[in-house]
Amino acid sequence: MSIFSGLEKIVRTHCPLSSFTWYGLGGPADYFVMPETVEQLTEVMRRCEENALPLRVLGHGSNLLVRDEGVPGVVLRLDQPRFAQVEYAGSRVTAGAGAALSRLVLDCVRKGLAGLEPLTGIPGSVGGAVKMNAGGNFGDIGASVERVQLMDTHGRVFERVKPDLSFDYRRVNLTAPVILSATLQLSEAEPDTILRTVKEIWIYKKNTQPLNMRNAGCVFKNPRQLSAGALIDRAGLKGAQVGGAKVSEKHGNFILAEAGCTSRDVLELIDTIRSRVRDSFGIELELELEIW
Ligand code: EPU
Repeated sequence: MSIFSGLEKIVRTHCPLSSFTWYGLGGPADYFVMPETVEQLTEVMRRCEENALPLRVLGHGSNLLVRDEGVPGVVLRLDQPRFAQVEYAGSRVTAGAGAALSRLVLDCVRKGLAGLEPLTGIPGSVGGAVKMNAGGNFGDIGASVERVQLMDTHGRVFERVKPDLSFDYRRVNLTAPVILSATLQLSEAEPDTILRTVKEIWIYKKNTQPLNMRNAGCVFKNPRQLSAGALIDRAGLKGAQVGGAKVSEKHGNFILAEAGCTSRDVLELIDTIRSRVRDSFGIELELELEIW
């Protein structure tokens, strides 16, 4: 523990990560760090840099598969109150990276703030959502992001502001290791009107996606103009299984983790899907799911 001496309260060693992911799979992190203040986080960054420790930031684990052997170095989680607070100022909202996206969407609806309803049904943290430009057919978070606060590898806090921020399909031009918060510009609208959209999207997803099962959302990005789910479906892969990992019967782009599933099962099924889609359509599927 000497690398993090003085910070024992916020550092766990050899910490299993499975319970921090929606898949519930995967091995431990050498160091699992949950800072409570920006100063502590700065100190953690400094020590990672000094000791050349790899650093990964864990959101709410809803788009992540951790390998069975776990990950070296530091896994950082920003779920303490300082990093999860949400502040409202008119139609502008500043949300900490650790805040829950689904909660934020509903709170904005209640306050009559429109713009985030396309994110209905998307789990995860605000930080993860910004990093991935979370979204779907109805829109993405990037459309509302005006400013992000970041931390660099030396522990220095800085900001990036529109139009310097460029969001694309499931990506944003940010390279700083840590997202601290995002400021969203929303617009005022009738809560009932926003709620109607939220309900429509929710019903659509409930009918087309395997909610309430162990999964991490869409595994592959949609190739340009195409749907990965539809390609996997047309390749006859719905229901395909490797060990405890199974392609959802409801939506081809979801891999479910059933009893006894390991990360290795999911990875093997991913390979099977990729090669079948390549052989059938000549298309190379790219991962949306993050793999550690
Ligand atoms: N389809 C099939 N078979 C399937 C799945 C889909 O034929 O097994 C067809 C559908 O009938 C539809 C088309 O493919 O005509 C597109 O499907 P869908 O509307 O379900 O959307 P998607 O493109 O598969 C995207 C996002 C989802 C998001 C939904 C709804 C990606 C990779 N996926 O899915 O995001 O929830 O739109 O907004 O961008 C995620 O990012 O984890 C995710 C699930």
